[in-house]
Amino acid sequence: MKGYQNPQINVESILTRHQLLEWLFPGLFSELKREELAYTVETLRLFNEALDRHNTQFKLEFKDTDTQKKISLAEESLKHRFTVYQNRWADTLKNLEAKKASLLEPACGSANEYRFFVSYGIARFFDYKGFDIAEKCIANSRAMFPGIDFEVGNVMKIAEKDKAFDYLIVQDLFEHLSLKGMEKALEEVCRVTKKGLVIVFFNMAQRPDHRIKRVRKYHWNLLSETLITNFLLKRSRDVRVVNVQKYLKEEFGFSNYYNPKAYTFVVNF
Ligand SMILES: C[S@@+](CC[C@H](N)C(=O)[O-])C[C@H]1O[C@@H](n2cnc3c(N)ncnc32)[C@H](O)[C@@H]1O
Repeated sequence: MKGYQNPQINVESILTRHQLLEWLFPGLFSELKREELAYTVETLRLFNEALDRHNTQFKLEFKDTDTQKKISLAEESLKHRFTVYQNRWADTLKNLEAKKASLLEPACGSANEYRFFVSYGIARFFDYKGFDIAEKCIANSRAMFPGIDFEVGNVMKIAEKDKAFDYLIVQDLFEHLSLKGMEKALEEVCRVTKKGLVIVFFNMAQRPDHRIKRVRKYHWNLLSETLITNFLLKRSRDVRVVNVQKYLKEEFGFSNYYNPKAYTFVVNF
């Protein structure tokens, strides 16, 4: 199974970067953030049009190489748009100074998000540490960024003490854990965070309970927005819940986001 995700146009990734900047520079970039989202919506609309021309759709997961080829062709035709805001952010941030904040990213994959923190000029504001349970991912991350702290680790048992990090981000992890494992992991990310947390979910809905689905060695659960919100509210000062599709529809009139079940949660402690 192949997946599609490009943090340059993935709105959950954009919202994560925006939130990190918001914590460091409150209110400073509201206009630029909105412009980037509007531009991304237009890119996604053009993406959908290009895929229509190839008689395919922008799917989150796909099995065949034919779909992969069509997505690559559509992507190629829009590549020039992907770096526009990367360059604008790098340029805007290059002369700014801020006290470094500590940032932890569990389940960092092969520096999937971090590499864009670098290219967008955000990385230098943070003392970043990433960890993942997969040794291969950590080897890849270290090869890409030799000076950066990447380690093998388990989100259910984070090594650091309480409130060890100012901020924590975690993307597309919790749906893959058992119910017990997920609760332990959520407990852990709250425990080690002092100020703020961004959690991205890829498979969530407004439903009273979680739907647990085992897929071979891991899970592909559908999580309950209400249960997760209540869990986090009990452990924090406030929780902002963004269903990405609903948000893009309300703010930008765009209703064809490729993952209607994607959510970004911002938690302040
Ligand atoms: C769907 S990938 C997401 C990767 C990355 N966060 C992203 O959004 O591109 C899920 C990641 O979680 C990692 N993972 C799974 N269970 C974990 C655990 N218990 N502790 C730490 N990482 C884990 C996997 O190795 C994999 O890299």
